[in-house]
Amino acid sequence: MATTTTTSLSYLCIVALFAVLAISEAADFLVGGSSNAWKIPTSASDTLNQWAAANRFQVGDSLVWKYEKEKDSVLQVTREDYLSCNTSSPIAEHKDGATAVKLARSGAYYFVSGAEGACEKGEKVIVVVMAARRRWD
Ligand SMILES: *[C@@H]1O[C@H](CO)[C@@H](O)[C@H](O)[C@H]1NC(C)=O
Repeated sequence: MATTTTTSLSYLCIVALFAVLAISEAADFLVGGSSNAWKIPTSASDTLNQWAAANRFQVGDSLVWKYEKEKDSVLQVTREDYLSCNTSSPIAEHKDGATAVKLARSGAYYFVSGAEGACEKGEKVIVVVMAARRRWD
């Protein structure tokens, strides 16, 4: 009886510990690194994809955008629509000015601006999320 209780308690503690670790590891990334970075890049050496390449995204992290909701939006699109800047049928559309997207799976996510002509001028980003890190590495 006592052994069973101890075992269940240990199990509970381990589950709780992993839950805390999972929460504390999740990060929020402000896309572009600053609150007015969701815009047409000012130069070819300062693009959103260069920002993305300099960061490591993991499952459970979130992307956050800050922008003027009257002028811009964030569209999640397929790879094909990203490449052609086709904004006619996005997977998801966000236009609240303060958008958060949780990266729930590994792999590539494609986002483009919903503002007229902005994607063509480089207001777009690919975020590649790494496979879940094994905790014993
Ligand atoms: C954009 O995507 C829609 C839906 O997939 C498609 O019907 C349309 O032809 C595409 N437009 C262009 C310019 O490729």
